[in-house]
Amino acid sequence: MKVLLINGGPHENGSTNRALTEIAATLKSEGIESDVLWLGNSPIASCIGCGACKKSGECFRKDIVNEVGARLDEYDGYVFGSPVHYAACSGALSSFMDRLFYTSSKKMYMKPAAAVVSCRRGGASAAFDEINKYFTINCMPVVSSQYWNQIHGSDACEAEQDLEGLQTMRTLTRNMAYMIKAFALAKENGLALPEREAQVRTNFI
Ligand SMILES: Cc1cc2nc3c(=O)[nH]c(=O)nc-3n(C[C@H](O)[C@H](O)[C@H](O)COP(=O)(O)O)c2cc1C
Repeated sequence: MKVLLINGGPHENGSTNRALTEIAATLKSEGIESDVLWLGNSPIASCIGCGACKKSGECFRKDIVNEVGARLDEYDGYVFGSPVHYAACSGALSSFMDRLFYTSSKKMYMKPAAAVVSCRRGGASAAFDEINKYFTINCMPVVSSQYWNQIHGSDACEAEQDLEGLQTMRTLTRNMAYMIKAFALAKENGLALPEREAQVRTNFI
């Protein structure tokens, strides 16, 4: 069992990463592996809505989106982390998630997911809501915690002092681990994923 932890912030070792390392350590104690992936600081292009991915299954831009998309099957759960930028998630994570979900959402169908945000002071719940919307349009069970999944601080040192934030990450992780293990047991015992109807799309309403 393995979880992908994505750091969508500009600092490889900043506050968002501090939250993710708490999650990684707690996953380890639960017997679950994880990979932390920092998206880096090269620009991530936004989706141009060309629809090419609907035919090819990947984005025409050969970048980190396709690299991650190709590896999604390896994971049983996903955590998308971001600093709060103007009460929203980072522009990089927003562009990344638009294109990842447009090209590869099927690979994440019915797998548990969580949003994690870091901020100095405000806007955390708006950014948290923004990230969660990708999961809830893709039949992904959203993992919750004892508080909204946020950690406070301008950098990793300050985030270290947010003991409640760190505990929120550990609780989140144990809840995710429980969910992943429960889903594995369900599969082993022959419980199939829910039946899906052919999708109805009613535009212009
Ligand atoms: C462009 C920009 C906008 C920001 N907007 C907010 C904000 O709206 N609210 C807030 O509390 N902090 C804001 N911050 C501060 C970061 O959210 C905070 O320092 C965060 O912990 C950085 O995480 P990181 O170390 O993972 O990059 C902003 C920072 C930047 C660079």
